[in-house]
Amino acid sequence: MAIRNIRVEEDEILRKKCKEVKEVTERTRTLIDDMLDTMYEAEGVGLAAPQVGILKRIVVIDVGEGPYVLINPRITKVEGEQVGDEGCLSLPGKVAVVPRPYKVTCVAYDEDMEEYEIEAEDLFARAICHELDHLEGILYIDKATEPVRMVTEE
Ligand code: NI
Repeated sequence: MAIRNIRVEEDEILRKKCKEVKEVTERTRTLIDDMLDTMYEAEGVGLAAPQVGILKRIVVIDVGEGPYVLINPRITKVEGEQVGDEGCLSLPGKVAVVPRPYKVTCVAYDEDMEEYEIEAEDLFARAICHELDHLEGILYIDKATEPVRMVTEE
Protein backbone atom coordinates (compact mmCIF):
# COMPACT_ATOMS: atom_id res chain seq x y z
CA MET A 1 0.00 0.00 0.00
CA ALA A 2 1.30 3.37 -0.92
CA ILE A 3 0.26 6.91 -1.60
CA ARG A 4 0.62 7.81 -5.25
CA ASN A 5 1.24 11.21 -6.74
CA ILE A 6 -2.00 12.87 -7.92
CA ARG A 7 -1.70 14.42 -11.36
CA VAL A 8 -2.96 17.99 -11.43
CA GLU A 9 -4.09 20.84 -13.62
CA GLU A 10 -2.60 20.80 -17.10
CA ASP A 11 -1.09 17.31 -16.95
CA GLU A 12 -2.09 15.94 -20.34
CA ILE A 13 -2.69 12.42 -19.02
CA LEU A 14 -5.91 13.78 -17.47
CA ARG A 15 -7.18 14.42 -21.00
CA LYS A 16 -6.62 10.91 -22.37
CA LYS A 17 -9.15 8.14 -22.79
CA CYS A 18 -8.59 5.07 -20.63
CA LYS A 19 -8.38 1.44 -21.74
CA GLU A 20 -10.62 -1.42 -20.66
CA VAL A 21 -9.28 -3.75 -17.98
CA LYS A 22 -9.08 -7.30 -19.36
CA GLU A 23 -7.92 -9.06 -16.20
CA VAL A 24 -7.12 -8.14 -12.62
CA THR A 25 -3.48 -8.98 -11.97
CA GLU A 26 -1.47 -8.54 -8.77
CA ARG A 27 -0.34 -5.26 -10.23
CA THR A 28 -3.97 -4.17 -10.74
CA ARG A 29 -4.77 -5.06 -7.10
CA THR A 30 -1.81 -3.01 -5.90
CA LEU A 31 -2.98 -0.11 -8.03
CA ILE A 32 -6.49 -0.32 -6.54
CA ASP A 33 -5.13 -0.48 -2.96
CA ASP A 34 -2.89 2.49 -3.67
CA MET A 35 -5.78 4.44 -5.23
CA LEU A 36 -7.86 3.89 -2.07
CA ASP A 37 -4.96 4.98 0.17
CA THR A 38 -4.34 8.01 -2.01
CA MET A 39 -8.03 9.00 -2.03
CA TYR A 40 -8.35 8.72 1.77
CA GLU A 41 -5.05 10.54 2.36
CA ALA A 42 -6.25 13.42 0.15
CA GLU A 43 -9.70 13.35 1.82
CA GLY A 44 -11.44 12.90 -1.51
CA VAL A 45 -14.65 10.94 -2.18
CA GLY A 46 -13.44 9.46 -5.44
CA LEU A 47 -10.38 8.85 -7.56
CA ALA A 48 -9.89 7.60 -11.11
CA ALA A 49 -6.79 5.75 -12.34
CA PRO A 50 -5.67 8.49 -14.78
CA GLN A 51 -5.37 10.81 -11.78
CA VAL A 52 -2.45 8.68 -10.63
CA GLY A 53 -1.10 8.41 -14.16
CA ILE A 54 -2.58 5.05 -15.19
CA LEU A 55 -4.80 4.99 -18.28
CA LYS A 56 -7.06 2.14 -17.18
CA ARG A 57 -10.80 2.10 -16.59
CA ILE A 58 -10.67 1.87 -12.79
CA VAL A 59 -12.40 4.11 -10.27
CA VAL A 60 -12.62 4.10 -6.48
CA ILE A 61 -15.38 5.93 -4.60
CA ASP A 62 -16.28 6.37 -0.95
CA VAL A 63 -18.92 8.94 -0.12
CA GLY A 64 -19.18 7.63 3.44
CA GLU A 65 -20.82 4.29 2.64
CA GLY A 66 -17.57 2.35 2.42
CA PRO A 67 -15.23 1.88 -0.51
CA TYR A 68 -16.49 0.88 -3.95
CA VAL A 69 -14.16 -0.35 -6.66
CA LEU A 70 -15.51 0.11 -10.18
CA ILE A 71 -13.71 -1.60 -13.04
CA ASN A 72 -14.88 -0.93 -16.62
CA PRO A 73 -17.91 0.95 -15.23
CA ARG A 74 -20.79 2.11 -17.37
CA ILE A 75 -23.89 4.11 -16.54
CA THR A 76 -27.01 2.30 -17.70
CA LYS A 77 -29.74 4.64 -16.43
CA VAL A 78 -30.02 8.24 -15.26
CA GLU A 79 -32.91 9.98 -13.54
CA GLY A 80 -33.62 13.52 -12.40
CA GLU A 81 -31.16 16.33 -11.92
CA GLN A 82 -29.04 17.92 -9.21
CA VAL A 83 -27.16 21.18 -9.49
CA GLY A 84 -24.35 21.84 -7.06
CA ASP A 85 -20.70 22.50 -6.38
CA GLU A 86 -18.14 20.00 -7.52
CA GLY A 87 -14.40 19.78 -6.95
CA CYS A 88 -11.60 17.44 -7.98
CA LEU A 89 -8.34 16.33 -6.38
CA SER A 90 -6.65 17.12 -9.70
CA LEU A 91 -7.83 20.75 -9.56
CA PRO A 92 -6.91 21.68 -6.00
CA GLY A 93 -8.56 24.70 -4.43
CA LYS A 94 -11.23 25.03 -7.11
CA VAL A 95 -14.96 24.39 -7.28
CA ALA A 96 -17.69 25.04 -9.80
CA VAL A 97 -21.39 24.41 -10.24
CA VAL A 98 -22.06 21.32 -12.31
CA PRO A 99 -25.46 19.82 -13.16
CA ARG A 100 -25.63 16.03 -12.83
CA PRO A 101 -28.38 13.40 -12.76
CA TYR A 102 -29.88 12.94 -9.28
CA LYS A 103 -29.87 9.19 -9.62
CA VAL A 104 -27.75 6.82 -11.68
CA THR A 105 -27.58 3.09 -12.20
CA CYS A 106 -24.05 1.89 -12.88
CA VAL A 107 -22.80 -1.54 -13.90
CA ALA A 108 -19.17 -2.34 -13.11
CA TYR A 109 -16.82 -5.19 -12.25
CA ASP A 110 -15.30 -5.64 -8.82
CA GLU A 111 -11.73 -6.73 -8.00
CA ASP A 112 -12.66 -10.35 -8.76
CA MET A 113 -14.08 -9.30 -12.15
CA GLU A 114 -17.59 -10.10 -10.94
CA GLU A 115 -20.18 -7.85 -12.52
CA TYR A 116 -22.38 -5.89 -10.13
CA GLU A 117 -24.84 -3.02 -10.23
CA ILE A 118 -24.97 0.11 -8.11
CA GLU A 119 -27.99 2.35 -7.71
CA ALA A 120 -26.73 5.68 -6.46
CA GLU A 121 -28.35 8.96 -5.52
CA ASP A 122 -27.26 12.46 -4.63
CA LEU A 123 -23.51 12.75 -3.81
CA PHE A 124 -22.82 9.11 -4.72
CA ALA A 125 -24.46 9.63 -8.13
CA ARG A 126 -22.46 12.83 -8.63
CA ALA A 127 -19.22 11.04 -7.71
CA ILE A 128 -19.92 8.22 -10.18
CA CYS A 129 -20.59 10.69 -13.02
CA HIS A 130 -17.49 12.72 -12.15
CA GLU A 131 -15.14 9.73 -11.90
CA LEU A 132 -16.47 8.05 -15.05
CA ASP A 133 -15.86 11.30 -16.93
CA HIS A 134 -12.18 11.06 -15.89
CA LEU A 135 -11.97 7.78 -17.83
CA GLU A 136 -12.90 9.71 -20.98
CA GLY A 137 -10.46 12.55 -20.33
CA ILE A 138 -13.30 14.85 -19.26
CA LEU A 139 -12.94 17.17 -16.25
CA TYR A 140 -15.84 18.75 -14.37
CA ILE A 141 -14.78 22.22 -15.51
CA ASP A 142 -15.82 21.15 -19.03
CA LYS A 143 -19.40 20.77 -17.77
CA ALA A 144 -19.54 23.67 -15.30
CA THR A 145 -22.42 26.06 -15.88
CA GLU A 146 -20.83 28.90 -13.87
CA PRO A 147 -17.24 30.20 -13.67
CA VAL A 148 -14.76 28.18 -11.61
CA ARG A 149 -14.22 29.65 -8.12
CA MET A 150 -11.20 29.45 -5.86
CA VAL A 151 -11.83 28.17 -2.35
CA THR A 152 -9.54 29.16 0.48
CA GLU A 153 -8.52 26.39 2.81
CA GLU A 154 -9.11 26.95 6.50
NI1 NI B 1 -11.87 14.40 -10.23
